[in-house]
Amino acid sequence: MQGKVLFDAIARGVFAALFAADLFSLVPAYAQAVPKTWDERALETGVIQPPVAHAPVKHIPADYYYRMRERVIYRTYPVYSSKREPPGYLEKLALAEPEVVFDAGKLHTEQDWIGAGKQVFRYPIGLFPVDMLAVWRTIMERTGVPVARDGTYPHLSIVVPKKGVVMAGFLSCATCHTRIQPDGSVIEGGQGTVPDLLLGFPPDVQIARAFQRALFRVPWIDNDPIDRVQKMSIDEINAIKAAMPLGVVARHGTSLFTPVQIPDLIGVRERRYLDRTGLMRHRDIGDMMRYAALNQGADMLSDYAGYRPVAGVAPVAGLKDDHLPPPEALERYSDPQLFALAKYVYSLAPPPNPNGITDPSRRGEAVFAREGCARCHTPPLYNSNKLTPARGFEIPEEHRRTYEIEPTIVGTDTDLTMRTRRGTGYYKIPSLLGVWYRGPFEHSGSVATLEDWFDAKRLRSDYVPTGFRGFGVEHRAVPGHPFGLNLSADDKAALIAFLKTL
Ligand code: HEC
Ligand code: HEC
Repeated sequence: MQGKVLFDAIARGVFAALFAADLFSLVPAYAQAVPKTWDERALETGVIQPPVAHAPVKHIPADYYYRMRERVIYRTYPVYSSKREPPGYLEKLALAEPEVVFDAGKLHTEQDWIGAGKQVFRYPIGLFPVDMLAVWRTIMERTGVPVARDGTYPHLSIVVPKKGVVMAGFLSCATCHTRIQPDGSVIEGGQGTVPDLLLGFPPDVQIARAFQRALFRVPWIDNDPIDRVQKMSIDEINAIKAAMPLGVVARHGTSLFTPVQIPDLIGVRERRYLDRTGLMRHRDIGDMMRYAALNQGADMLSDYAGYRPVAGVAPVAGLKDDHLPPPEALERYSDPQLFALAKYVYSLAPPPNPNGITDPSRRGEAVFAREGCARCHTPPLYNSNKLTPARGFEIPEEHRRTYEIEPTIVGTDTDLTMRTRRGTGYYKIPSLLGVWYRGPFEHSGSVATLEDWFDAKRLRSDYVPTGFRGFGVEHRAVPGHPFGLNLSADDKAALIAFLKTL
């Protein structure tokens, strides 16, 4: 399939695919009681509101949510790099029978649930014609994504939902939350190595613009940067996407101009706020289930001060900004699927750390203590699990009663939290566990390494950011977080040696 036909297929696109009603629905029989995902009260108290007055965000009612159809999780097959695909691979898959792999009735032990959760984590919610594989592989190769040792790209998969129908699968949790190290080792749940270009590959200019608007429009700000995109060509939109380094993407609700670092999910069980802006509280497993449901489709249906992002791109044409498509046309994870998924995410463990404790790392630990890092990055989680206000944000009185807030303003760039749909007025304190296997750092991934994060030159306006720089930006400061910037070369090296042992 070429050109127009392929583009039309994509035009039905990620949104249609996100919500595509499944023609082969099988209703699983549940044997277990699981928390209710769409608990309206828990959602209301769990999601922090935008940093401006009079911009209420409301989520869809439970009645609507539960009328959406439950997703069927089929077996997934690996996608190989073009050089490593076994001969006749796709032809063989065309003969495969469809296999439903998630059946809550068969889950008894904790290990059963975790194993089933892994299947959900790897299951793509967007299915495309198989010809997309060639497009995606080209993007992976051009953007330098390492291939896993076994010759695959675990971000992508193949699904056979019906005998003879081979589909290219995309937008699983694993798409964004799998890290492939330069040596080909795979860290599932690690800060992802997915090129932003892969996300929402624009089919035609009108659709691409509508799509970007739905993903990023912020109804309560002036001079919304997404308005600029409404005049851009596909090449220009792709140039913005290509300016993002691996490890950083414009997740929906952030901005093409202020994207976000993909978090390491290893250790997320211990974090009390989710997202860099602390958008969602994490009080129990139900909150994790709600987070996954919201972020894999349901928050596009939310009402953002009168604007519903899904409207412009819904599978049903002609919807007004504040309207919802019929729920039966959309798809969601079942509650047991989300329960299993959350258990799997909680079970993720870090790879063995090759950096042992040495003399320099011991000295670095002393530097860490002396410089007061532990106030915010408190051992043993290296995280106080608090929110810090962005410059210019006034903490509402009731927030002081409800949230854990560290009142120090660290002074990093404010746009992500003040001017996007994920904004709250805060940046959360990130954990420092696992910094040895991840990067880039800072909320938008502006610096590539720890060395750069503790380099005082980054405060200057002639600094060339080593991570995310920005579309068309030659140089800019990476402001804020002054901690550890005035150390001697020795102390700095020791501090970094220590951080790499965590
Ligand atoms: C298109 C890429 C993409 C997909 C698909 C995706 N995520 Fe994420 N995820 C991100 C990005 C980017 C963030 C950071 C958002 C932010 O900080 O505002 C994130 C944040 C998170 C967080 C918050 C972690 C923290 O420490 O703040 C969790 C939990 C999470 N994702 C789980 C999942 C699960 C589970 C799935 C599948 C159901 C999933 N994600 C699918 C890109 C993705
Ligand atoms: C007042 C609280 C506070 C103190 C003190 C503090 N930090 Fe941070 N740190 C933060 C916040 C908040 C961020 C995230 C800022 C952002 O992304 O905008 C951060 C980010 C980081 C990061 C980047 C992590 C990532 O995932 O992006 C590292 C590394 C770090 N801090 C190390 C240190 C060290 C070492 C010290 C002591 C020299 C220190 N911090 C002192 C609050 C603090």
